[in-house]
Order: sequence, then C-alpha cells, then structure tokens
Amino acid sequence: MTTPPPPLLSEATIIDRVDQLAAEIDRDYSGIDELVLVGVLKGSFIFLSDLARRLTIARRIEFIAVSSYGDRASEEAGGSVRLLMDVRHDLAGEHVLIVEDIVDTGHTLAYLRRAFSARQPATLRTCTLLHKPDRTEEDVELDYVGFTIPDVWVVGYGLDFAERYRTLPYVAALPPELR
Ligand code: IMP
Ligand code: MG
Repeated sequence: MTTPPPPLLSEATIIDRVDQLAAEIDRDYSGIDELVLVGVLKGSFIFLSDLARRLTIARRIEFIAVSSYGDRASEEAGGSVRLLMDVRHDLAGEHVLIVEDIVDTGHTLAYLRRAFSARQPATLRTCTLLHKPDRTEEDVELDYVGFTIPDVWVVGYGLDFAERYRTLPYVAALPPELR
C-alpha cells in the first residue's frame, strides 16, 4: 500500500463547508413538502451522506449512475453521457436536487439537467462538492458549489482514481507518481 497523498482539503474544511451548504439548502427549500436528493454514483456517495444528514427539511435519497471516464470512448465522443441506472420513482412535481462529486468538463451535469428537466419536476437544482472551472467546457448552471479547485486530479471523500483512494476521509490532489 502506497502512502496516501496529503490533503488539498482537510476533513474539517470539508465538513465546515458541508454544514454551510446544508444550512443554505435548508433555507432555500424551507416550506416545501420534501426534497429529493439524487446522488450520482459512485463519486457523490460520501458527500451526499454527509449533506443529507445535516439537512433538517424533509428529504428522500435516490441514486443514479452514469457512464464516466472509465470509458474513454465517452470522452472521445465529445462528452456523450449515458444513464446506466435510473431513479425508481416518477419525479414529476417533485423538488429535485442533483448531487455530484465534481464538475470537470460539465458534460455530465449538463446532460443530467436536460434529462431530468424533461421529467417536469417542480424545481431542479444542482449541487456539487467540487468544481474545476479551468476545465469546464459546457455552460451548466451550478446552484450549490462546495469548493472551486485548480485543474488537478483529485481523490478521496468519494472520488477515485481507477477505484483507488475513494474512501480517504479528505480530498487530495493525486501526485503523478501515484497514477
Ligand atoms: P464531467 O462530465 O467532465 O464534468 O466529469 C464528470 C465526472 O468525472 C465526475 O462526476 C467524476 O466522476 C469524474 N471526475 C472528473 N474529475 C475528477 C477528478 O479530479 N477526480 C475524480 N473524478 C473526477
Ligand atoms: Mg461523478
């Protein structure tokens, strides 16, 4: 086992920000019946679990899975994204918040925004823990952003490199020698 990379965002820094985001979301959605949090697997699972537990409004959890960088073909095709697993409920009339780990090119979230708005939810917003604006090609609306980071490959707190480092408790920039 190699030595884990040092933190870019410490556990305490992340949790402070997740607290703030939860407070903001609580405020913005106060008075609604229920918020449907749609986590994008696998990367968002830790962020979603921390965020969801800090909310006080009524909420429900759903998960979806999309094709990602594992398959290089999707990148070469100019960012065509595929839904590999869908939610199990009709989202018409629901308040939907898509929860992502990171927005890189923006293709995934732009695709999800289009796909989910077609289902006619009452409201549709997006929340991402991380955003790499230097890499973003598609102008996608981000309603809640945890941290803006430089163009580096990050791992931990749900994010992986070839399925490694996903359960590091903090976010680290992966040094080239660990790739
Ligand atoms: P996008 O479609 O280019 O915005 O990227 C979407 C997905 O690529 C994210 O949801 C992540 O799963 C993955 N990804 C992008 N950058 C990173 C990174 O730095 N570390 C880990 N995963 C990443
Ligand atoms: Mg993701």
